[in-house]
Amino acid sequence: MYNNITITSYDHKGQGIAKVEGKIIFVPNTIVGEIVNIKITKEKKNYMEGKVTAIIKESPTRVKRICPYYEDCGGCDLLHLPYDEQLKYKENKIKNIVNQYLKEKIEITSIVSSDQQLNYRNKVTFQADKENIGFFSKKSNKIVNIDSCLLLDKSLNNYLKELKKSNCFEKKKIILRTNGKQVLDNEDKIIKTIGKYQFKVSLTSFFQINDNVTLKMYEKIKEYCNLSKDDNVLDLYCGIGTIGIYLSELCKKVLGVEINEQAIKDANENKKLNKIDNITFIADNVNKVIDKLNFKPTIIIVDPPRAGLDTKTINQIIKFKPKKLIYTSCDPMTLVRDLKILKDHFKIEQITPFDMFPNTYHVECVCLLTKK
Ligand SMILES: C[S@@+](CC[C@H](N)C(=O)[O-])C[C@H]1O[C@@H](n2cnc3c(N)ncnc32)[C@H](O)[C@@H]1O
Repeated sequence: MYNNITITSYDHKGQGIAKVEGKIIFVPNTIVGEIVNIKITKEKKNYMEGKVTAIIKESPTRVKRICPYYEDCGGCDLLHLPYDEQLKYKENKIKNIVNQYLKEKIEITSIVSSDQQLNYRNKVTFQADKENIGFFSKKSNKIVNIDSCLLLDKSLNNYLKELKKSNCFEKKKIILRTNGKQVLDNEDKIIKTIGKYQFKVSLTSFFQINDNVTLKMYEKIKEYCNLSKDDNVLDLYCGIGTIGIYLSELCKKVLGVEINEQAIKDANENKKLNKIDNITFIADNVNKVIDKLNFKPTIIIVDPPRAGLDTKTINQIIKFKPKKLIYTSCDPMTLVRDLKILKDHFKIEQITPFDMFPNTYHVECVCLLTKK
């Protein structure tokens, strides 16, 4: 137990950091400047983890418990911070990671905010057992039973209410996706709209979870590409073809590559739905096919999962010598790891962070690189 400890900074997961007797303590749900009493929950050689037992000096900006599940549920990390402080935290986090790992001056724009800070999620995965339906708790596989979640689109919360009434929790995982009108809970498809395009998306295919930020992000990708009719765009990790289709009318050809076969089926339907004829999709592992593509890209867009790019993919991107590479990332640590290699061949022009996931520590980035 430590008393009267001042929180001095945040870690990459939005936890407060304090220092006691030369050792760092990570303390969730705290704000820089607050003075707290801490119970140690884990002690390692170089650091400790703690839990607040009392707030001695509370930050005047603290947002008071707006969710009854906040302390147990693993969904949110920053619900206690006002939105402008969340944005500041995320922007600084990207700056710190970039400075620390790339060690050169790179332009990072202001973070692009989300129009909705609550009820923005269009997809949810509930965990269930015989008695509970909700989310895994922060540090275990215990299910925190919930009646509704502040981050979910209202239609998903209404669906949860009905699900609870029906008392049928025979599934372990319940995945739902919505377009605000119709909730999808099986293998059918739902129609989503981004700008002037419509997209059919199956439950098992990837689709960005915050619609208003997705539109802003795709607009930034379009701006970074600054396409002409001579450009051939390679859209790697293309999901259901959203980015490629969004850009298709501005360039000569698009080739999308995606590992999930169902997503590629959706992508081909989306090509027809939007009457696009200059786009082709390949269902395969980027790593396996990247050196066999019969395509000369002038611009490459990558939007990999959290793991980022593998060495073979990076090497082939370098070999393609595109005039631009646009790297969309949901994990700044793997982004900087990959940029460290790419920067010998490309100039890192700018990084724009996006608040795709308000109230969590997660942040999306789009990075523009140009050939050196
Ligand atoms: C972050 S999502 C991006 C999807 C799309 N760009 C969008 O904006 O909706 C990453 C996608 O990469 C796919 N993926 C993961 N590993 C892959 C691999 N090795 N090869 C090809 N696609 C992969 C996933 O199935 C997922 O659809």
